[in-house]
Amino acid sequence: MNNIATFLRSSIGRKLMMALTGLFLILFLVVHLAGNLQLLAGDGGEAFNRYSYFMANNGLIQTVSKLNFLFIILHVIYSIWLTRTNAAARPIAYAGKAKEVQSQWSSRNMGILGTLILLFLIVHLKSFWYEFKFGSIPTIPAGTYDGLDMEIIDAYSYIAAAYAQPGYVAIYLIGMTVLAFHLFHGFQSAFQTLGLGFSKYKKLIQTVGVIYSILIPVLFAIIPVVMYLQQS
Ligand code: HEM
Repeated sequence: MNNIATFLRSSIGRKLMMALTGLFLILFLVVHLAGNLQLLAGDGGEAFNRYSYFMANNGLIQTVSKLNFLFIILHVIYSIWLTRTNAAARPIAYAGKAKEVQSQWSSRNMGILGTLILLFLIVHLKSFWYEFKFGSIPTIPAGTYDGLDMEIIDAYSYIAAAYAQPGYVAIYLIGMTVLAFHLFHGFQSAFQTLGLGFSKYKKLIQTVGVIYSILIPVLFAIIPVVMYLQQS
């Protein structure tokens, strides 16, 4: 136990925690996107409302959700910890041009990008997750959907109302642009930490990383844009 605690405090231990929590969040985004794309099913929200009801009432999903929040918090804490110790180890900044040659813009700005994503998440979780759990969302009468004999929340209409506001859609577009840059570096960086960065899989990891970091944010961004256009 003591050895694990010592390892998690070491520089490589901290990087490993960043990589593992990051990879979990990368997987979460795929599942979250697949669920959210049902908002565009064109069925008046039935598929999404059924899905939303299932997610809120499934014990396993609720456990994974708690893990998800834990990993987000750990990812943030470890990133602050790593940045502070890296800065302390390098009291004199890299000189002018040299740093641009050594690394990409996104890799040098992971802290800023991560902070912006955290701000996006606070807005996002307050408006959806918090309201679904603790707010008073309009409901759909029991029996509206075949085989569902209870009153369930009308998650679809609530989200549609949010995405009818251009300012809200803009927050998502900015958030997804920032997310793309963060993932662009984060994806490859995680595999590098796991020791696969220079292996025979290097090219494959790079290719999948580029596709993932563009495709996932673009598909997320399409949802509010389409829902806005459907209502305008
Ligand atoms: C159009 C894009 C998105 C939509 C429509 C959307 C929708 C939602 C909704 C409805 C919930 C509440 C689920 C519930 O409690 O039943 C939720 C939760 C959440 N969303 Fe999103 N989301 C989007 C994008 C994102 C992005 C890009 C991120 C991450 C950067 C994200 C992170 C989260 C997290 C962490 C939760 C809490 C999940 C949990 O309970 O574990 N979402 N989202």
